[in-house]
This record gives sequence, C-alpha cells and structure tokens, in this order.
Amino acid sequence: MKLLAQGSNKDIYEIPGEPDHLLFSFSHRISVFDVGALPEEIEGRAESLSLFARAVAEHLDLKGIPQAFDSKLSKQYSAFVQQRVSHPRVDCQSPSPGSARVFVPLEIIVRWGVPVGSSLVKKDPLRYAVGSRFEKPTVDFTTKLEAQDRPLDRTEAATLCPEGLGLEEVESFVFNVASELQEFFSRKGLEIWDAKFEIGFDSKTRGLFLVDAVTPDEIRLTLKGFDRVPLSKELLRFWLRQTPWFDEVSRRKALGGDDWKQGLPRSPRLGAWRLGTLSRIYRGLAELVSEQGSHTLLSALRGEGLRPKVRVIGEGGRETALRWRFEREGCECVEDTLQADLVFVSLDADLASGVADAYRAQGVWAVGPSQAASRVEWSKRFGREIAMAAGIRCPRIATDLSAFDVSGPLPVLKMDGLAAGKGVFLFDKREELEQQIAELRKQEIEYLLEERCEGFEASAFFSLERDAWGRVSARYLGSAQDFKRRYLGDEGPNTGGMGALAPHPKLLAEDIELFSQWALATAVELEKRGTPYRGVIYLGLMKDLRRGWVLIEYNARFGDPETQALVMLWPESSLVARSLGQLSLLSLPQEISSSATDKTLCLALVHPEYPRACAPLKLEPWSPAVSDNLRFFRTSSLSGRIAYLVGRGETYLEAGDRVFASLLKSPWKDQVEWRSDILK
Ligand code: AMP
Ligand code: GLY
Repeated sequence: MKLLAQGSNKDIYEIPGEPDHLLFSFSHRISVFDVGALPEEIEGRAESLSLFARAVAEHLDLKGIPQAFDSKLSKQYSAFVQQRVSHPRVDCQSPSPGSARVFVPLEIIVRWGVPVGSSLVKKDPLRYAVGSRFEKPTVDFTTKLEAQDRPLDRTEAATLCPEGLGLEEVESFVFNVASELQEFFSRKGLEIWDAKFEIGFDSKTRGLFLVDAVTPDEIRLTLKGFDRVPLSKELLRFWLRQTPWFDEVSRRKALGGDDWKQGLPRSPRLGAWRLGTLSRIYRGLAELVSEQGSHTLLSALRGEGLRPKVRVIGEGGRETALRWRFEREGCECVEDTLQADLVFVSLDADLASGVADAYRAQGVWAVGPSQAASRVEWSKRFGREIAMAAGIRCPRIATDLSAFDVSGPLPVLKMDGLAAGKGVFLFDKREELEQQIAELRKQEIEYLLEERCEGFEASAFFSLERDAWGRVSARYLGSAQDFKRRYLGDEGPNTGGMGALAPHPKLLAEDIELFSQWALATAVELEKRGTPYRGVIYLGLMKDLRRGWVLIEYNARFGDPETQALVMLWPESSLVARSLGQLSLLSLPQEISSSATDKTLCLALVHPEYPRACAPLKLEPWSPAVSDNLRFFRTSSLSGRIAYLVGRGETYLEAGDRVFASLLKSPWKDQVEWRSDILK
C-alpha cells in the first residue's frame, strides 16, 4: 500500500484498486504540545484507536448518520477506511477530479459540560464550574485554513461553508451526531464532555457527512465515578506540564519563530508506569466501546497491577518518611535511578548543586526545583529579592551595621550561601557581632544583616505547580512547628530540628490563606524572571510582635523533621506524595484541608553529642511496634540524628503519649537523647 501522508497520530495509505478511499493506520507514537512525536511509544495504542474509531463509526452508521467512513472496506482491511473528500489544503488525499465531496474547512467543537482543563474555566471562572453539565450542548467553530485554530463567530464561520450550505444545516447535523454520541457513550458508562468534529458536504446530494475518525484524543471522556481522570493524552499533558521541560517548551513557543524546536532539551522519559497506564487506558476504552467489557479500564483507573517505581535520594529521616508515604500510596521505592518512574530530589545541597537538572538532562523524570530556582534557598540575598518583589513582608536587611538603630535590637547576621543550618548568628553583644562580621569579611564570605524579629516561628509547605489549565499555582501541603534548639526550654545550639508538631498549633485559617498568597506570589515572580519554580517550597515564617507575619527564609524542599510529621497527617485517601511526583491519575490534585483535625508529633532521637561531630553509637536492635498512629523512621545518616518517632492522635497530647510510651519501652532510652518538652 502506498503511503500518502504521515501524521503525528496516524499514517494515511492508498488502497490498491480503491482510488476513492483512504486507509488510516494509527500509530503507537504520541505527540503533545506541537513538539512532534515523543521518543517513547505506547504499546497497543494503534490497535486501540482503530478499534475505538471503528466501533464509534459502526454505531453512527447504524443510527443513520452519514459518514465518509466505509464500513465494508473497514471490515475487509481491519482498519478505519473512509472515502476521499477534497481538502482545501491537502492535495494528496483528494478524490478523483469531478468529485462532489468537499471538506468543510471548519473545526466544530461541541461541549456538553465543563471538564477539568476546559478552556471555558480560564475564560470565565465565575460562570463555568468544573464538573458542571449544560442543559443542552453548545457548538463553537474554529477555522482549519490557518496555521493555528482561530475561533470564529457565526458570521465568519458561515463564510467558510461551501456554496449552497448554510450554518444552520451544519449545526443541526452536528447536534444530531452529538446526541447519538452521547447516547452511545452513556450506555457504556462514559461521560462525554466535549468533542471536535470535521465534516464534509456533497454538493450533488447537498448532504452533510462526518469526516475522519473519532478517537479518544478528539473527545474528552471520563468514566462515570472517575470524573477527574482524563481518558486521553490529556493525562499525559497533565503530567508533563509539571516538568521543567514543559516550562522550556512554553518559553520557546512564546518567543515564536520557526526554529523553536531546535535544541529543545530532552523530554522526560515517561517510563514503564506512565506508558503502561496510558496503554491500559486506550486499550480499556477500546474494549469498552467494542463490547469486550470494562475490566481493563476499571483496573487501570483503580491503579491495579502497575506500581510506579520511585527513587527518593537521601538517607535522612525526611527521605525515610517520604519513602514510607510513597509506598503507602502504592509506589515501589527503588535505588536504581534508571529504573525509576520518578526521582525525588529533596536535599538542599543536591538542589543547590544542580543534581535535579543533571538528572533531567539525562531524561530522568526528576522532581525538585532547578538549581536556578532553588537559589531562593541557597542565596539568602536572592531569596529576599524575590520575596520583596513578590510583595511579601520580610525583616529589613542591609549589609552595613550602621543601617540599624543603635538603641534597637542587634540585627541577625546571615551568611549568604547554604550553611547546613550554621549560617545564622544571633548575638546579644555588639562587639561579638562586629567580630563575627570582621571574621566573615576576612574569609570573603558573603553575608547580610537582618532586622531581628521577636515572636514565634512556623513552617508552611506548598507545592508550586501548574494546574490543569497550565496556570502557575500553589497547593498547600501543611504546616508545622519545628523545635530547632538542642536542649529543653529552647536552650543550646540550633540543630536541624529536634522535633515537630503538625499542623502548627497556633496557625489560623487566615494565616494559611496569607501564606498561600505568598507562595503563589513567589511562584509568579520567579516565573516572570524566567526561572520557573516547580516543586515543594517551604516558607520559614515568624509572627513578629510588632509587624505580624514576616517571611524569614525560603527553603527549596521539605523540612526535616517536619516532613516526618506531615506524611502521617496527610489524609489516607489522598495521593499527595504521588501527585507531587506526578504519578497520580487525577488531573486535579486534592488540596490538603487546613481544617483537618488530626495532630501529629515527631520526636528526634539523637546522639548525646549532637549537633557536634560524633562517632556512631552502638545501639541495640530495636524496631518498635508501629501502627497507623505510630511510626518509626530510622536514618542511616552520620550526623547524629538517629531516628524519629511520630505519633498521631486527636490531640497533640494523645500523639505525644503514643511516642513517649513507645520510647520508654525502648532499649535505646539510656543511649539516645531527645527533647521531652515538645508538648509544652
Ligand atoms: P534559618 O537558618 O534562616 O532558619 O534561621 C535559623 C533561626 O534563626 C531561625 O529559625 C530563627 O529562630 C532565627 N532567625 C532567623 N532570622 C531571624 C530574624 N530576622 N529575627 C529573629 N530570629 C531570626
Ligand atoms: N527543619 C528545618 C529545615 O528542614 O530546614
């Protein structure tokens, strides 16, 4: 058979002896965002699309809808075969001269309601609520005659109709098709949300007919009961939109020009889980519409049978807790990067040195902000500049001591770069501060001075991502109170954290609201500067007695030990870890409600010498009895932070009781140290 045209979705062949027909051969390739086919293929996609398109066309035939589809030849060739129609832009597929069948150069969009990702919501969010359905379907037109689809009003749409065809006829034909389709899918348990059609006109019989195959990628379908899971490549778009690769695609497209695809970075490797999931969705849909049952689709949507592989880099308590949560959400934690569907980078030093970017350059689906974006953490100065530009209240900064009032409190001295928690100096004596400044100057270490605030601190966590409409958004992941000082009563040196309470006991809903605005403003500011931030961001906050909430610092990652407390707080049914890693089927990830009532308490068990350098302890083996309300996260870190006990309960007291009851039975209790005043 002679190949006439090769599309991103299907190849078109000529059938020997049938000069007026075309055979569509769908492919396993998949293309998104106009970048062309991605390097990986979706197994079984070709057969599934063909089966689906033929089942739909057979049904419309049965219902008397005229189509270019040729049922007899389709059966004979086990492919989608249609009659040729003369096309204003494509010559090679035209019928023999003199044919009366012409293509109507309109793309016709029918909408039954507002699915996740619908452009209607972006246009008018007050009028269109996600998930709502219209009383009657609506119809819109765009032109097929230009490089990009352009919306047309009715008057202009009418001018594109061939001689002798009115727009009312087009509409009435399309509504008829729409109603048959809806009926068809509904009987299969599917909800149709919108569809794109193309039609032809026969100038001899003056009849309209449907052109081209209807596949899941031209219509938005969901399975009833799973209305946030798109059953098409929309799902792939949703995953990819969260990646820095997509940011680069968008940036280049916005610049315009013909060569925007040149030198485009490697797209993230989709990996076995994403490919397998898409494959099962396509296969499941084809089976469903061709009466072979709903088993494949249901099991794909329930996530049965395929476990995503996740690698969380790092051996600290935070990473151990994240691994536990990923496993809890059905993922398998692995050590091998090349096997992983997702690599989660959460160490500040890794992010600052560009580990996540280096992985991405190799095609690894790495999650974690880029080196450029995580600069909000590794340069205090840059972080401050972004926060101020984003309109966030911050303590005043300067580089010169004379900028601060002599009668006021001494400013805080901060080293500019990452300092593993040792970069902040709080002095009570001016001479000591001056001495430290002189020391940093001598060593040519960049620093800044910051107005000293007074009040309590809070940590708030957000995921900066793109929503189903591609807009920058900040999703709240929870809050916590961190206990940084080593000894009882907040005495002693700062540590990485001796414990945490989650959610933070003193935060009000309005505080979370404010922090959400700040997180979003940060994302918008970074986006504006061409350094889009994707991933978890942690706001270090203080409620200053005089000024109210101020932002003390950004961290480009989860906190440790706050994460150990958070992973047990996230509601059981929500796929928070998965959605951070884009291993969820839901195109609209759930919010963590700020009104959840459970509390968690995390207690760090540390070496008596911690935070000074310490030789490893010889500990007796101990694995406490864990439950849904008590977890034990062991680290293999050499820092002196040995393990964490996390309790959950209706009150902090109940959570704490669980932790301390377990600890008092521990053979470690005379070997390790902890802070017993976390509940006070
Ligand atoms: P950081 O390394 O930025 O988390 O700072 C360590 C600790 O220093 C914070 O948790 C605060 O307790 C304290 N700190 C930092 N900045 C200020 C400030 N502007 N005013 C008062 N305390 C601060
Ligand atoms: N708990 C403080 C931090 O992770 O930086």
